[in-house]
Amino acid sequence: MTIPPKSPNESKAEMTVRMFPSDANPAGNVFGGEILKQIDLIAGLVSQRHARTNTVTASIDRVNFLRPVYVGNALILNARLNYVHRSSMEIEIIVEAEDLITGKKTLTNTAYVTAVALGQNGKTTEVPPLVLETEEDKRRFAEAEKRMLQRLAERKKN
Ligand SMILES: CC(C)(COP(=O)(O)OP(=O)(O)OC[C@H]1O[C@@H](n2cnc3c(N)ncnc32)[C@H](O)[C@@H]1OP(=O)(O)O)[C@@H](O)C(=O)NCCC(=O)NCCS
Repeated sequence: MTIPPKSPNESKAEMTVRMFPSDANPAGNVFGGEILKQIDLIAGLVSQRHARTNTVTASIDRVNFLRPVYVGNALILNARLNYVHRSSMEIEIIVEAEDLITGKKTLTNTAYVTAVALGQNGKTTEVPPLVLETEEDKRRFAEAEKRMLQRLAERKKN
């Protein structure tokens, strides 16, 4: 059975989360682990929207922490699919911190997450192919394919 393809637009997501004192590290800024949790969460949301089955995080590529996030900021995460193979999907996540008093938004993090779809038997299962609607979709797909080949090569080394 062939699975109908879907566009990255159908699964993309935006999420806004307020950062509280309970999210802080001992220095008083937002704990990196809290930001990683939100990155993982939105990647799971996008991958499950695309696959419409259970998905797990297989890997998180280097996460860049570009600027601190402060308690009281709104953390705004935007995530979309760049690439899918058989059961794996690459999700790109861009994180901004919004100062709710001034309205200023600062780019704070970027990350690539690979999620893998699992069927009801717990085994990896095929996901819908991606429809590449725009030139940007095509560019993202080609760049992500190179990263995926790199990940495969690194997996083989381990
Ligand atoms: C991810 C997982 C399902 C892969 O299982 P596996 O038996 O190694 O599966 P395979 O080798 O057949 O790989 C399946 C797919 O995952 C991809 N993959 C596996 N490990 C990967 C990794 N570390 N990085 C990127 N892709 C990976 C493979 O390239 C393959 O993609 P494809 O089907 O699109 O070609 C398995 O390692 C697992 O369950 N890990 C734990 C996940 C987890 O608990 N996450 C945290 C909670 S969500």
